[in-house]
Amino acid sequence: MENFIFNAYTKIYFGKGMISNLPEAIKKHGKNVLLVYGGGSIRKNGIYDKTRELLSDCNIIELPGVEPNPKIDTVRKGVELCREHNVEVILAIGGGSTIDCSKVIGAGFYYEGDAWELVEFPDKITEVLPVVTVLTLAATGSEMNKNAVISNPEINEKLGTASSNMIPQASILDPEYLYSLPAIQTAAGTADIMSHVFESYFKQEEDTFIQNKFAEGLLETCIKYCPIALKEPNNYEARANLMWASTLALNGLVGAGKAGAWTCHPMEHELSAFYDITHGTGLAILTPRWMRYILSEKTVDKFVEYGKNVWHLPELEDKFAYANQAIDKTEQFFRDCGIPMSFSEIGIGEEYFDIMAEKAVRIGYLAYAYVPLSKNDVINIFKMCM
Ligand code: NZQ
Ligand code: ZN
Repeated sequence: MENFIFNAYTKIYFGKGMISNLPEAIKKHGKNVLLVYGGGSIRKNGIYDKTRELLSDCNIIELPGVEPNPKIDTVRKGVELCREHNVEVILAIGGGSTIDCSKVIGAGFYYEGDAWELVEFPDKITEVLPVVTVLTLAATGSEMNKNAVISNPEINEKLGTASSNMIPQASILDPEYLYSLPAIQTAAGTADIMSHVFESYFKQEEDTFIQNKFAEGLLETCIKYCPIALKEPNNYEARANLMWASTLALNGLVGAGKAGAWTCHPMEHELSAFYDITHGTGLAILTPRWMRYILSEKTVDKFVEYGKNVWHLPELEDKFAYANQAIDKTEQFFRDCGIPMSFSEIGIGEEYFDIMAEKAVRIGYLAYAYVPLSKNDVINIFKMCM
């Protein structure tokens, strides 16, 4: 196990009605609040009205319209609003896109140059305005982590940045807020949670028993509860388990002590950068193809462990056949959740394979992944996704 620093200081208010704690969580930082949200789902499901009521004695400035795959221009707008109105705290209500956008706005407030530089060069992030979140989509873990992913459509870039100063101060996680999610967001969000776990589960370290067990528990949680949430959107137990899984999958718990680059995420970020697709959908398409591509004498035992501990497959003598069954199960699971499982179904052609593969390898350091990948390897995986 590698040395690590684990710093997950976000105060979590979890459960039904926990939004009643919002005034306390916000006002300890000040009363000038930038309220950041997306395309309007929070107006339809009542969270917006509830928030305005709870914070009626605050001075609220709004930044609506954060896009899925949030754009740098929206960050810039937010920075300007914060400066103009002396904002003291940012309240992000939404999924990963709204939260990520808010984090970089908070960092941009203290930075004299253009906010895009904070995305390209995370070391330039110093101080960050406090960020409080109300989570409405179980997927990214942004509610308790230091990451933010921002897109710059002018140059087809989608990049991740990170700073421990961007970790939210507090997050309100009410599983009932997931009831209004469209089915595809529930499914794609679950694929994202699972992918965060896979990215750490499939690593070269072999002495990380505890992290592996956390990982397997989170994967089993997704496999058990996503189908229930899809069938019964208002099932509290299912929503609660998925919501907490989202947070724990990427707050450092599973990845601590495991070195090396991620694999499917850098590939997916290129798909989103060029085609603006839903992050979790891209991951669901890529993951089983990547698994098949890297299955070899070197990796087969890990896939057998995965098949045994996560899918509980009956024993087989041929370990490759067993590993392949585990991969088939993964692919079928995503399909059964209603996720389109090929590039052609979501409008991705071969036209940018070359540049997307080159960038995934370079930006994502795929030479240091669980199984190192070259540009040609990535192109081959993309072809398997057609
Ligand atoms: O914009 P609104 O109207 O709110 O609608 C959103 C949006 O259209 C909708 N939605 C969210 N909650 C809802 C709801 N609709 C009805 N009821 C609700 N309760 O869902 C759509 C997608 O929202 P978005 O925030 O884009 O989804 P997600 O949470 O999956 O975030 C995706 C972004 O996060 C990045 C992704 O790359 C992508 O840009 N990631 C961030 C990470 C992080 N910060 O650690 C890690 C991830 O790997 C990921 O890269
Ligand atoms: Zn992700």
